[in-house]
Amino acid sequence: MSASTADPRLEGRALKRVVFDAVDIAARVRELGAEITAAYPDGDLLVLGLLKGSFIFLSDLVRQINRPLHVDFLVAASYGDGTVSSGNVRLVYDPETLLEGKHILLVEDIVDTGRTLNRLMDLLKARNPRSLEICALLHKHIADELRYDVKFTGYDAPHEFLVGYGLDHAESFRHLPYIASLL
Ligand code: IMP
Ligand code: MG
Repeated sequence: MSASTADPRLEGRALKRVVFDAVDIAARVRELGAEITAAYPDGDLLVLGLLKGSFIFLSDLVRQINRPLHVDFLVAASYGDGTVSSGNVRLVYDPETLLEGKHILLVEDIVDTGRTLNRLMDLLKARNPRSLEICALLHKHIADELRYDVKFTGYDAPHEFLVGYGLDHAESFRHLPYIASLL
């Protein structure tokens, strides 16, 4: 997959570079699915996608998990239109689904400061799941504030602002099939 300033999806913005292309991502998501399948031998598995950023990753990922599962979503807003974490995490939607006694896999697009995950994991843990783990497509490894392990990680991410495959800048570029940094 090639991407350039000529890509009509880019609204005239230039890419610095494509960091992970669509073929790469598909292969990695298949591996993650196999890892997750192997990690959960029995019990109810609920895959909880953190909207909006995880929507494409989650839809690809669950199709690579070869066991029964349910899907639900959470919305946590932390960024506004900027590219710097505000640390001000708001939970906009709380899933109705009962979490008690279930294996919960929280799916996130990218771990940056870790503030979003700290807050959400605290909330989810209080509902007594059987297990509670994090799967993040991208991990910037600058999350010195993160109090939880990320059990499943797609890629270590460069310390650049990334867009595409669900990730946005001011709500644009979520629909790029690849992950890129903007100029
Ligand atoms: P944290 O709370 O600082 O870890 O922020 C995590 C959230 O910020 C992610 O779920 C994304 O929505 C957003 N975010 C962090 N880094 C990036 C990036 O490089 N591109 C797009 N969104 C990002
Ligand atoms: Mg997000």
